[in-house]
Formats: sequence, C-alpha cells, structure tokens
Amino acid sequence: MAILITGGAGYIGSHTAVELMKTKHEIIILDNLSNSNRESLERVKELGGRDLKFYEADIRSRQSLDLVFAENNIEAVIHFAALKAVGESHEKPLDYYENNIGGTVILLQAMKAAGCKKIVFSSSATVYGSENTSPLKENMPLGRATNPYGTTKMYVEQILQDLYASDEDWSISLLRYFNPVGAHKSGRIGEAPSGVPNNLMPYIAQVAVGKLDFLRVYGNDYPTDDGTGVRDYIHVVDLAAGHVSALEKVLAGPGCDIYNLGTGKGSSVLEVVAAFEKASGRAIPYKFFDRRPGDVAENFADPGKANDELGWRAVRGLEEMCEDSWRWQSQNQDGY
Ligand code: NAD
Ligand code: UD1
Repeated sequence: MAILITGGAGYIGSHTAVELMKTKHEIIILDNLSNSNRESLERVKELGGRDLKFYEADIRSRQSLDLVFAENNIEAVIHFAALKAVGESHEKPLDYYENNIGGTVILLQAMKAAGCKKIVFSSSATVYGSENTSPLKENMPLGRATNPYGTTKMYVEQILQDLYASDEDWSISLLRYFNPVGAHKSGRIGEAPSGVPNNLMPYIAQVAVGKLDFLRVYGNDYPTDDGTGVRDYIHVVDLAAGHVSALEKVLAGPGCDIYNLGTGKGSSVLEVVAAFEKASGRAIPYKFFDRRPGDVAENFADPGKANDELGWRAVRGLEEMCEDSWRWQSQNQDGY
C-alpha cells in the first residue's frame, strides 16, 4: 500500500518523505512545483536510500488526481499542498481560497471516489488567533484568523470535521504546527524561500550568510521577559516524525483528531538571535522596529495530547534548530 504526499517537494513535505522512507510504506509525491523544485526530490531519494514516485500535478485537477488514484493503491494521504505566505494572502485572497480550500475539496472528492478515507492535514497554530492564552490547547475555541491564509486553515479544519460527521469511516488527523524551523542534519534539504523571507529563522540565516544586512526585530515592548515576541519553534525533523506518528494513528482506525505539534517551550526573538550567533559563529546585527500587524506577544503549545495519544514528542532544542538551519543555509546559499 502507498502513501500519497501532496506538496511533498516543499519544506515540510520533503523532510516528512525522508522520515517515511524509513518505514515500509511506498511513497508517492504529487506537487505542482509552484513553490519548490525537483532537486529536493532527488535529495530526498538520496537521503532515503530508495526510490519514490513523483507526479507533477495540481490538487485542483480532478483528472490528475483520479489518474494518481487509479494507477496506485493509495491507503492514505498526507496533505501539505497549499500556498502559505501570510502577506501575499492579503493581496491575493482568491488565490489562497481557491488553492487551499478549493484544492482540498477536490482532493477529498477524489479520495472519496477512490475509497481512500484516511488523511493527515497540515493546519497551523494560527487558527488559535490572538484571543487565547498560551499554552494553547486543542479544545480552546478558535480565534479570528488575522489573515486570509489563516482563514483557509480554519475552513479546511471545519470541512474535515463536517466530512467526518457525515461519514465516520473517515480517519482524519488535523495537525496544528507551531513554528517549523531547522533542516535535515545532512544539510541536503531545508527551507528555500523565494525572495526575501517573511519568517524569522530563514531571515536570520540570510543575515548570517551576508545576503541581508540586518534583522528587523518587530517590537521590543511586548509583555515578555525581554520585550520581543515569543514563539514555539519546532525542529522540522521532529515535525516530520510527528506526521509519521499521526499517519500510524490514521491507519489504525477511523476518527477525527486534532493535535498540536510544538515543543511546549517558547523562545523570544532575541533568544533565537543569540542561539543562531552561537551556532554560526557569525554576528547577527539587528534593529528594533514597530510591532508587525497581526503579531501576538507569545504563542506556544501544550503538546500533551500529541505526546499522550501519538506517543510523539519533540526532542530537538533551539541550539540544534539553529545549527541545522545554519548548515543548510551555508551549504546552499541560493536554495536548491
Ligand atoms: P512549501 O511551500 O515549502 O510546501 C508546499 C508545497 O505544496 C510546495 O512544494 C508547492 O509547490 C506545493 N503546492 C502548492 N499548491 C499546490 C497545488 N495546488 N497542487 C500541488 N502542489 C501544490 O510549504 P511548507 O512550509 O512545507 O508547508 C507545508 C504545509 O504546512 C502547508 O499546508 C502550510 O500551510 C502548512 N504550514 C506551514 C508552516 C510553516 O511555517 N512552514 C506552519 C504551519 C502550517
Ligand atoms: C507567521 C505567520 C503565521 C504562519 C507562520 C508560519 C504572521 C502574523 N503569522 O507566524 O500565520 O503560520 O508564520 O509560516 O505572519 N520576527 C521579527 N523579524 C522578522 C520576522 C519575524 O522580529 O523579520 C518576529 C515576529 O514578530 C515574531 C517572531 O519573530 O515574534 C516569529 O515570526 P515568524 O517566523 O514570522 O512566525 P509567526 O509570526 O509566529
């Protein structure tokens, strides 16, 4: 039996594919390469030590999906494919709704038609909004998303829950990621943002390597220990392992469960800067700027449910996240 990974050429998908290659599952990746590159798949094969099947296709194409399901015996889907840039989602909300919500509905229709009712979905801690207080727990009421990207994650969560309510044969895992960072230990795969990065760790990595002059620290007047924003950074390899655990749960039997994938520990922007300086041996110049609209002071997970029910735990700390980000960035200055 095979596992279909949509968006598997991307950052989290490629790391998950490497972890899945350690299992017995056959791996099929479907990606339209809108934010990724074939080279990542070559490196996944190299790291995994075996082959995988790749379809360059779009989740919005029912015809392509039907072909993939007809040609393979797919038992479950890990669904990463989505547009993910928060700023861009304000400029192009329709693209985000079409791709992330419309694409997911088409994928679910194709799965249903093929009799494949097992799915692991990439959600985000962004669904907690700004009203909830950390540590964030799965049973908290969802907040109001501050951007169209976040809204797409809230809608897809609801769609999957409605689907399960209509047919309890489905087996669904909704994974709310906190802040994925880091890279595979080998330095062969990692995050390759196009243009200037929006997120903290890739931005710092590009300052360290000399591609950007300095870091803009957004806000030093938050009610946190050093005044800068606190987030729950999680190593992408831990996150990938969380998908393997969630997949095993989904394969074991029907249900619809939500899990936080985070470490439970928050780090401030200045703590990340200091850890990256130590890991890279480079200075990271920074300047304080106004708070970024939509940001909250602190955001970290209660990962207890995933620890207990999936038997999964994030084990890599901030130092390792920075060391691995640095290895990837310094060995692949222009990405793939
Ligand atoms: P990514 O952009 O690196 O990977 C997404 C992949 O999906 C890309 O390879 C892209 O080419 C592909 N894709 C996009 N639209 C597609 C379509 N219509 N058909 C086929 N392929 C398509 O992003 P990532 O960081 O690996 O994120 C993976 C998932 O995790 C996304 O759903 C994202 O929203 C979610 N997520 C990411 C983060 C994060 O910080 N990286 C945090 C929370 C949630
Ligand atoms: C952001 C998105 C979130 C998305 C997540 C992963 C916003 C408001 N939120 O989360 O929806 O799920 O990325 O893609 O965009 N920072 C700086 N300087 C920078 C960049 C960031 O000081 O150049 C600070 C931020 O203010 C924040 C922290 O670093 O305190 C982390 O920021 P970032 O990496 O962008 O993640 P989030 O804002 O948590």
